[in-house]
Amino acid sequence: MRHVLERLEKGRAQARLGGGEKRIEAQHARGKLTARERIELLLDKGSFEEFDMFVEHRSTDFGMEKVKIPGDGVVTGWGTVNGRTVFVFAKDFTVFGGSLSEAHAQKITKIQDMALKMRAPIVGLFDAGGARIQEGVAALGGYGEVFKRNVIASGVIPQISVIMGPCAGGDVYSPAMTDFIFMVRDRSYMFVTGPDVVKTVTNETVTSEELGGAKVHTTKSSVADGAYDNDVEALLQVRRLIDFLPANNMDGVPEIPSFDDPSRTDDSLDTLIPDNPNKPYDMKELILKVVDEGDFFEIQESYAKNIITGFARIEGRTVGFVANQPMVLAGVLDSDASRKAARFVRFCDAFNIPIVTFEDVPGFLPGTAQEYGGLIKHGAKLLFAYSEATVPLVTVITRKAFGGAYDVMASKHIGGDVNYAWPTAQIAVMGAKGAVEIIFRQDLGDQEKIAARTKEYEDRFMSPFVAAERGYIDEVIMPHSTRRRIARALAMLRHKETERPWKKHDNIPL
Ligand code: HXC
Repeated sequence: MRHVLERLEKGRAQARLGGGEKRIEAQHARGKLTARERIELLLDKGSFEEFDMFVEHRSTDFGMEKVKIPGDGVVTGWGTVNGRTVFVFAKDFTVFGGSLSEAHAQKITKIQDMALKMRAPIVGLFDAGGARIQEGVAALGGYGEVFKRNVIASGVIPQISVIMGPCAGGDVYSPAMTDFIFMVRDRSYMFVTGPDVVKTVTNETVTSEELGGAKVHTTKSSVADGAYDNDVEALLQVRRLIDFLPANNMDGVPEIPSFDDPSRTDDSLDTLIPDNPNKPYDMKELILKVVDEGDFFEIQESYAKNIITGFARIEGRTVGFVANQPMVLAGVLDSDASRKAARFVRFCDAFNIPIVTFEDVPGFLPGTAQEYGGLIKHGAKLLFAYSEATVPLVTVITRKAFGGAYDVMASKHIGGDVNYAWPTAQIAVMGAKGAVEIIFRQDLGDQEKIAARTKEYEDRFMSPFVAAERGYIDEVIMPHSTRRRIARALAMLRHKETERPWKKHDNIPL
C-alpha cells in the first residue's frame, strides 16, 4: 500500500512541475506566476480540488509521442471564493506554451459542463498560444467544443477570463465570448495572429504591446474590461468582482451584510451641480456617495469615459450602475459609449441585477465621424438593451436629459420603473440656445429678441417640472436624499415581474 501511495505522490509531484523547473523559472523571470500559483491566489486558501492531473495528449505526429507531460498544459478544478463555488481552468504556459490539444480541450470542456450543471461561475486564466500546432484539426475541433459551451453558458452562469500572458488564436476567441476580460499590464497580450504573422501578411512592423497589450484593449478596442499591474492584483480584483455577481441567472444577486444606513443622507450632493450648466462635475462622486461603503467596481473604466458602468451595492445587494460622465465630452452619447453601456445593461438584465441610471446627457454626438461609424446602429443597441430589460430600473436625472438620449437612458417610456429628477434637471429636446436658433430662425439678427426667447425656453423647459406634470418623472427629489430614495425604490421593486411575448430570441442591431 505504501508503495502505491508513494507512486501517487511522485506522480502528483511530477504533474505539479508542469514543463519543469527551468520553464517555471523563466515564467517567474517574466514576472508571471505559474498556473497553480494563480489558482491558489484566486480561490479561498486550501479550497482547490483538482481534476484530470494525469491527462496526457494522444498526439503521435512530429515526435510528440516522446514528449508527454501530465496535465497537458492546463490545470482544472473547482474551489470557493469567499465560500461560493467557482470552477476554474488555468493555462500552463510551461507546457507546450499552454497550447490546446484535443486532450487539453476535453479537460476544459469537462469543467465547463460541470460549471453549467452546478450553475456556478467559471473563471479561465489564460497564458497560451492557441491551438497546439502539432495536432492540427484535432486542436481546432477542441476549440470548437470550448466555444460552443461558452455560448450555451452565456447568460446562464458568469464567465470571466483573465489574460495573464501572450495569448493568440483560440485563446483570445474563447475569452471574447465570456462576460468579462481582464488583462495584466506589460506582460499580457491578445491577438488573433501575433506580430510575426502580421509582418508576413501585411508587412507591418508592430510589437506585441502595440498589437494587443492591455492599453490597446482597454482604451482602443474595448476587448478587455480592465487591466491590473500584476497577477496578484488581477486575481484579487477578480475575487472582488465575483463577490458582486450572482452564481447564475436564477439565484438572484448575492446579499452581504451592510453596515451603511440605507437612509443615510449626504448634504454635499445639494451643491454637486454647478450653477453654470456648461460646467462639468464628477458623476463618480455621486455614485460613491450613494452606494454602500463607497465600494464601486468599475467595468471598462478606461474606455468611452463619457459613460460610467459598474457594480456596487445598496442594502448589501448588488446593483449595476450606468451613468453619464459630464467630465468627459460633456457626457455625450457616442457609438463607443452606447456599445459599452448596452453590453453592461444586457449583462445585468441576464443575471437579474437591478440597474440604477444617473443621467446628465446633452444628446447624441453629431458629426460625420459618428454617423459614418454607425452611430444609429450603436445608439440603437443601448436603446434596445434598456427597452428589453426586465430587471428593476431606477433612473435619476441630475441635470441634462436632452433629445433621444432622454428616451434612451432608461426613461419611463421604455421601461423605467421609478424615475426621479433632481430640481436641477433640464428635460428638453435640446439646449435652449440650439432650440431658439431653430424655432426662431427669423429673429436671429435681433440679439434682444433671441435673448428673450432663450430665457422663455429656459423657463419653460429647462426644469424637471414639465416632465413631472405629465408623470414622466415620478418625483422631483432632494439630491441629499438620493441614496434613501433609490434604496426604497429598489426594495419596492424586489419582486418585479414582467410578461413578454414568447420569442426564440430578439434581433438586437449588432
Ligand atoms: C504548440 C506552442 C504553441 C502552439 C507556443 N508553443 N505556441 N506549441 N502549439 N500554438 C510553444 C513553443 O514552441 C515553446 O516551446 C513554448 O510554447 C513557448 O513559446 P515561445 O514562442 O518561446 O514563447 P513567446 O516568445 O513568449 O511567444 C508566445 C507566443 C508564440 C506569442 C504565444 O509562441 C506564438 O506566436 N505561438 C503561436 C501562436 C499561434 O499562431 N497559434 C495558433 C493560433 S490558431 P518550448 O519547447 O521552446 O518551450 C488557433 C485556432 C483557433 O488558435 C480558432 C480560432 C477561431
